[in-house]
Parts: sequence; C-alpha cells; structure tokens
Amino acid sequence: MSKLIIANWKMNGSIEQIEHDLSIYAKSIYTNNPSVVLALPNIYLYIASQIKNKLGAKFSLAAQDVSEFANYGAYTGEVSATMLKGLGTKYLIIGHSERRTYLNETDDSLLNKIDNTLNEKITPIFCIGEPKDIRENAKYIDFLQNQLEILLKVKSSFDNLVIAYEPIWAIGTGVVPTSEQISEVLKLIKAFVQNYLPHAKITVLYGGSVSGVNASEILNLPEVNGVLVGGASLKPDNFISICTY
Ligand code: PGA
Repeated sequence: MSKLIIANWKMNGSIEQIEHDLSIYAKSIYTNNPSVVLALPNIYLYIASQIKNKLGAKFSLAAQDVSEFANYGAYTGEVSATMLKGLGTKYLIIGHSERRTYLNETDDSLLNKIDNTLNEKITPIFCIGEPKDIRENAKYIDFLQNQLEILLKVKSSFDNLVIAYEPIWAIGTGVVPTSEQISEVLKLIKAFVQNYLPHAKITVLYGGSVSGVNASEILNLPEVNGVLVGGASLKPDNFISICTY
C-alpha cells in the first residue's frame, strides 16, 4: 500500500492558486495518485472537484472541518458532512489541535463530527497530539490515550480510520521528534486500535514540520503509514519533493 500524503492548506490559498497547483499535481507521477490528498479550505472544495474532474486527475480531496450537526437544519454558517460528501470529499480532518485550541472544540463535538462523517462514508482523519509541557513532564502517553478514547464512543460503524499524531510542539515550529519518539507513539496508537477496535483498518500518520528534507526519513519508518503536511504543502515544489520519498 502506498503511503498517504496529505496537504493541509489550513486557511490559505485562493482560486488562482488552486487552478495553478492542481494542474501541476495532475501532471506529476508523484502526486496524481489517490493516496495524495489535498485538504483545502472547505469553501474551495467545489471548484477543486470541478478542476479535478476536468483534468481527469486521481489525487483525493479532503475537508478541514465539518459541522457537529448532521444533514440540514437551522445552524447558520455551518457546513454538514452531507454537503461535503456532495463535493467529492473523500477524507475529513477532525480534531486538529488548532481547532481544539482556537475554536474550543470539545470531545463531545468531535465525537459528533466523527459520527456525521462516517455516516456519509467519508474517512475521518482524527488528529491527536500533546502540548510541550505534557511531553516534558512525561505525561504524554496518558494524554494521548485519553484523546484516543473518544473513538470508543463512536456510534457509526467503520472499517477505515486514519489517525494522525501531531505533537503540538512540532506544528509549524521546525522542531521534529526523533524517529524513536514518532515510532513510540504510532505503536501505541496501533496497539490501542488493535485492542479496542479490532475490526478497524487503521492508517497512522505523523504530522508536524514535515518537509522535503525530513520526509523520506519519516516516511520510511515502518510504523508510519503517511504524513500530514502543513506549511510545506503550500508550494508545489516542496510538496512534490515530499511525495517523492
Ligand atoms: P506544519 O503543520 O507541517 O506546518 O507543521 C502540520 C499540521 O498542522 O497539520
């Protein structure tokens, strides 16, 4: 199985950039591939799926967030999983630390988001990761285990699940954990799923300051099934160099 490489554009990009970058990605053998995933701002998914269809491109599209409310209703400003499904969204990022911090996302809302996403047959990319102080006082295993426990409350059935380990101290900082630190947590995630959700087929990602320089070392670790890339996904040259791992 080829590794999953996800570009998380966060709140960046424009229609022009999407037209430009997607036409490059459609032509490159490294990116014109369903396991290369572009997580664009939700507002751009419609145009991106039209461009993708026009180019006959094979990369996948992801949304960066979804409403905790299901289907349709009186929730001004919200976008449901049902709406995102209609745009060809294959994956959906849930629980990114930036949203947990700046948008005060709670475990209950994350759980609703996961259920709504699964009900639409979209694969959630559930993000976990500890802050620096928790890493430093060696409480990170309990902290991460606690974040994973939400998955035990999911009501919808699921076979496929993507979990991204993104230590908060590595996001956007240029600081990357050692290979041992990454492997330790990814093994923990896999053991958790094997013990408690044995039916699930799991893909485990690392995210946080992944770049063209460190991608191949990270992606060649046996536990790593892929990467979630923020800053380095905003320039096609950088992103393609990650995809050539
Ligand atoms: P970064 O972001 O690659 O810019 O560190 C990763 C992420 O937040 O998904």
